[in-house]
Amino acid sequence: NELGVIAVGFSGGQCKPGVDAAPTALISAGLLTQLKEDLGYDLFHDNTVHSYASIIPASDPDYRNMKNPLAVSAVTQRLSQQVYEHAQQGRCVLTLGGDHSIAIGTISGTAKAIRERLNREMAVIWVDAHADINTPESSESGNIHGMPVAFLTGLAVEEREDVFGWVKADQKISVKKLVYIGLRDVDRGEKEILRDHGIKAFSMHDIDKHGIGRVMEMALGHIGTDTPIHLSFDVDALDPQWAPSTGTPVRGGLTLREGDFIAECVHETGSLVAMDLVEVNPSLEAVGAAETIRAGCSLVRCALGDTLL
Ligand code: ARG
Ligand code: MN
Ligand code: MN
Ligand code: MN
Repeated sequence: NELGVIAVGFSGGQCKPGVDAAPTALISAGLLTQLKEDLGYDLFHDNTVHSYASIIPASDPDYRNMKNPLAVSAVTQRLSQQVYEHAQQGRCVLTLGGDHSIAIGTISGTAKAIRERLNREMAVIWVDAHADINTPESSESGNIHGMPVAFLTGLAVEEREDVFGWVKADQKISVKKLVYIGLRDVDRGEKEILRDHGIKAFSMHDIDKHGIGRVMEMALGHIGTDTPIHLSFDVDALDPQWAPSTGTPVRGGLTLREGDFIAECVHETGSLVAMDLVEVNPSLEAVGAAETIRAGCSLVRCALGDTLL
């Protein structure tokens, strides 16, 4: 059972330093050892935390309201290639971020590999307090970690190769194959986008109403059986009680068990082709950092097949 691992120490999709230290923190906590020794994966990892320093330009002025556009574009383009190389060889790919802008790289990489290898369109399960589907114009913050889904679905379009113009049709995903879980802080412009495109979303309200078990049945039912799944998990989907050390915490979130349960259900499908774990920021709420890291490790283990019994 082969697992490609990519450690991405990148924080340029938002303004708070520290999220780039997450991969080292997760790995120091023993995550990769557990995947290897407890879950039996053959790891393909270069033992490097990538900072991509050599491809980040010295000058990077705002463009179309986006902050650090050249840096985020260059880093995600490189990451896309790294993910593609693993996925194209049939490996499941685990990416440890980093802020959520890196999903532009990871999802474009798996989408392309799955098209080529299986001739299939993959689905994305996006677990998050936020929808991250702002266009540069609808964003109030200009932070690109609030925009990855817009670039991946083609809702945000940009010709310039050096500002995500490199994301081609075979690297994109369909809004029909996208499912959100855990939403509770969605911007006004984003709500309009979700509504206009009929995007499937299970908010915290839906989880309160139906329970997480039923929500997972509905979410996986929407995707359909036997569809390759990319799981993009933002740790801020969890309630700050369990994951306080993150850049944009929102109260009223998932319990640790609900988060693990989502990951376990995705594992049970047997269709997981890639997972991202993002937005762990050990430098924020320092007293909660160890807990946040522990929660992150648990989510990854559950998605990759750790079972309770
Ligand atoms: N919607 C807000 C924005 O566009 C917050 C996004 C938070 N994203 C995240 N990946 N934590 O800036
Ligand atoms: Mn979020
Ligand atoms: Mn908001
Ligand atoms: Mn996010």
